[in-house]
Amino acid sequence: MCGIVGAVAQRDVAEILVEGLRRLEYRGYDSAGVAVIQNGELSRTRRLGKVQELSSALDEAPLAGGTGIAHTRWATHGEPSERNAHPHVSEGDIAVVHNGIIENHNKLREKLKGLGYVFASDTDTEVICHLVHHELKTADNLLTAVQATVKQLEGAYGTVVIDRRDSERMVVARSGSPLVIGFGLGENFVASDQLALLPVTRSFAFLEEGDVAEVTRREVNIYDVNCNPVKREVKESEVTHDAGDKGEYRHYMLKEIYEQPTAIAHTLEGRIAGGKVLDSAFGENAAEFLKDIKHVQIIACGTSYHAGMAARYWLEDWAGVSCNVEIASEFRYRKSHLFPNSLLVTISQSGETADTLAALRLAKDMGYKATLTICNSAGSSLVRESDMAYMMKAGAEIGVASTKAFTVQLAGLLMLTTAIGRHNGMSEEMQAAITQSLQSMPAKVEQALGLDDAIAELAEDFADKHHALFLGRGDQYPIAMEGALKLKEISYIHAEAYASGELKHGPLALIDADMPVIVVAPNNELLEKLKSNVEEVRARGGLMYVFADKDAEFESDDTMKVIPVPHCDEFMAPLIYTIPLQLLSYHVALIKGTDVDQPRNLAKSVTVE
Ligand code: F6R
Repeated sequence: MCGIVGAVAQRDVAEILVEGLRRLEYRGYDSAGVAVIQNGELSRTRRLGKVQELSSALDEAPLAGGTGIAHTRWATHGEPSERNAHPHVSEGDIAVVHNGIIENHNKLREKLKGLGYVFASDTDTEVICHLVHHELKTADNLLTAVQATVKQLEGAYGTVVIDRRDSERMVVARSGSPLVIGFGLGENFVASDQLALLPVTRSFAFLEEGDVAEVTRREVNIYDVNCNPVKREVKESEVTHDAGDKGEYRHYMLKEIYEQPTAIAHTLEGRIAGGKVLDSAFGENAAEFLKDIKHVQIIACGTSYHAGMAARYWLEDWAGVSCNVEIASEFRYRKSHLFPNSLLVTISQSGETADTLAALRLAKDMGYKATLTICNSAGSSLVRESDMAYMMKAGAEIGVASTKAFTVQLAGLLMLTTAIGRHNGMSEEMQAAITQSLQSMPAKVEQALGLDDAIAELAEDFADKHHALFLGRGDQYPIAMEGALKLKEISYIHAEAYASGELKHGPLALIDADMPVIVVAPNNELLEKLKSNVEEVRARGGLMYVFADKDAEFESDDTMKVIPVPHCDEFMAPLIYTIPLQLLSYHVALIKGTDVDQPRNLAKSVTVE
């Protein structure tokens, strides 16, 4: 989704800003722009399309100046176009970039038109820059003008404002859309994600909800929602992965699929000892929070929701607690009832998904015993606002389609299952079996990656297909759902997942030779049931691709291609069967020629509702 970069420096900043935008490209966007203050005047360049278009335009007509802001836009109000691209400008004086949605923009627009302002775009953002311009007629300075402006805004914003008449300052404000200040030597920066600023600094302070900050070359002054001066902790970034580097891989997605053994090893590091998962994996005081838990409510979106769906089977089966899993956008607008001793678990790669964050805030008001987030982004809103955090340590995930974050979430959730289970009487043998399984996961994933060539060949069969069905049972049903989501989001093939017991309740009607059916079939207690479902498809002329344990006794024939998956235990099976499905979607997308890392219409971090 939209990305923001801003800088106040002695040197020219346009290149720094554009490099920052490049590092945010993975979030998904449709246009890009930059504005700098050059000799007391605002200069702005915007382009529809990729950051490269903007960069080429700047090569032809460079912008000089030490104070500037830049943005990648993911359209919400107004079509993707140059006139709707940020930065937006008021009267040639004020320039603004903004992430989020201003919900009362229509009302503000009418008011501002009444005051004589002429709108040059269809965006909600433009009201911010005219409002700041208007407020500056009576305010003492840019800071107080922005403080007066944000009081009038309803909705979500992360915004940065510059004024050509006050050329060594930017004012930034956050409510519902993350912003981080980057501290340099004699220069300071702001961005919506620290990744954008890693080439210029590693010292960051995350703004809190309602904060407004004034940033100059030498100083950063932060004020809370009541305009009182506050300090926000400055931390050295631990982000080690360089977002700019695809290495030997053709796409970030493929790189991230192959990084899974390392990412899983990282997430386990220092968290298992003596056959037990350490409570400290979930943060300070976790033992206290986890000890009386009898019910778990999981909230997430998309791929992260699928990880939660799998964990429900484990928590109920092995940890002995009841568990509900719900999509965040549904949970937040539904009246739900609180079970005694309930733990709320949010799962999120980015830690900034708007619906998940809103659901967490709602749950806190409802009185959950504790809140835990399973999250990949240190310093993100979910981490800061939860009682406990399991930091995934998967490294930056750049491909819009989530891969390594999903398998690391599964590993984290399996650890949570044993931690909660231990407080509910899970035997030492069971804990030891699960932790042993966790520790052998990296090597087993490595083996599963060995299927890559076979899957690349198989993907050819999907070149002319428009639909696909994924089937699984038990904790493999969410894996089938994840497989279907991956295929649809990067290859644009319509894909559905069913718990295979549901086949005869409707979807069997779809089966014919044009509907490939992908089946995940580990050797577990549901195998025989699954085999009956496979026969139901075969009897109706369906063509199947079965990812099966070698002992599951499936054989390839005219109606079925069997792909043997390395044998694995029941604890790791969902994670291992995910790998071939990720590879399948990747290779089908390659054949279809889609934009694998930035599929159309999608964004990486969904910071609007
Ligand atoms: C799919 C995908 C999305 C995200 C979803 C939640 O590949 O990446 O479905 O899983 O937008 O995002 P996070 O995990 O950042 O909350």
